[in-house]
Amino acid sequence: DLAPRFPLTVNPSPADEETYRAVMDRLSFGVDFTDHMARATWTVDAGWQGHRVEAYAPLTLSPAAAVLHYAQEVFEGLKAYRHADGSVWTFRPGFNAARMNTSANRLALPELPEEDFVASLAALVAADDRWVPSTPGSSLYLRPFMFATEAFLGVRSAHEVEYLAIASPVGPYFVEGFQPVGIWVSEDHHRAGAGGMGAAKTGGNYAASLLPQQQAAEKGFAQVCFLDAATNTYLEELGGMNVVIVDADGTVRTPSLTGTILQGGTRGAILELLRGAGREVREETIYLEELRRQIRSGQVAEMFACGTAAVITPIGRLAGADWDVVVADGDPGPVTRELYTELTDIQYGLRPDTHDWMYRL
Ligand code: COI
Repeated sequence: DLAPRFPLTVNPSPADEETYRAVMDRLSFGVDFTDHMARATWTVDAGWQGHRVEAYAPLTLSPAAAVLHYAQEVFEGLKAYRHADGSVWTFRPGFNAARMNTSANRLALPELPEEDFVASLAALVAADDRWVPSTPGSSLYLRPFMFATEAFLGVRSAHEVEYLAIASPVGPYFVEGFQPVGIWVSEDHHRAGAGGMGAAKTGGNYAASLLPQQQAAEKGFAQVCFLDAATNTYLEELGGMNVVIVDADGTVRTPSLTGTILQGGTRGAILELLRGAGREVREETIYLEELRRQIRSGQVAEMFACGTAAVITPIGRLAGADWDVVVADGDPGPVTRELYTELTDIQYGLRPDTHDWMYRL
């Protein structure tokens, strides 16, 4: 039991019953937060200290805190799922702990020991158990993050850093639920280049996606798909999720991890499920021009987006500045549906976890 590593301090102001009920009845994505947050502080001299769970509350931060100026920050996303017997589980927390440290390395932030990462989530969920929803498709979204707090305007890695984990009871990321979304392919903005931060889960990558995302939303598209920054010809990833293609012959393809895209946890799990089922899965370069041709000719049967927040979301349409294609008949295909069911059944404890992915919090 790792939770005692983050001892609970007194919570003076848990949400009242009425607020709690209202939140649990509306369950949208990332708007409501629980009563607590987990926390630890790092300094270059003392390392990690002050591990605790305390009341969820605004932070006190110097206006000179390095993160506000130079964006020295990393974050993670995972979910806690309520099973039928009332127990609460999360999905591959060791993967997220390791990935946060990979991101931290790129951003010159300190590593947090994996056990402390998992402990912070266990302690937070223990304190906020009532906020883990039990309605189908809902979960408690966990958001661990780390950022530079040192008040210093010189450009170097900060000597003071804060780690926090907050939690948000959520329903589906896309309000429509399991409905096909349209994707806008950005041919004039990129999120990351070779040697940059593309493989790190850091706010800057998401900041880079906001303007094209806003422009795409104005045109009625749910997400932006980015192309590689060097040649502007092949698919990388969407603003906040990975992209997968299912061909009519059953082959599955997804952009390979080139160092400029995020190594998605859901992406990895899905590829493992598909390979385990004997399906041919290729991680490779996917050229936009070729893909458009393949969609038009019917060679592409299905496309979907995947991520912790998005789970598996069918893609029904792909468009760019002077082109617009519908994927197959625009409806979610059978592979997308089956994968969604298989993955969420494992996460919600409805079928055996043969991969040892689930961790009881
Ligand atoms: C995720 O947790 O799936 C993310 O990548 C973050 C964001 C898209 C909500």
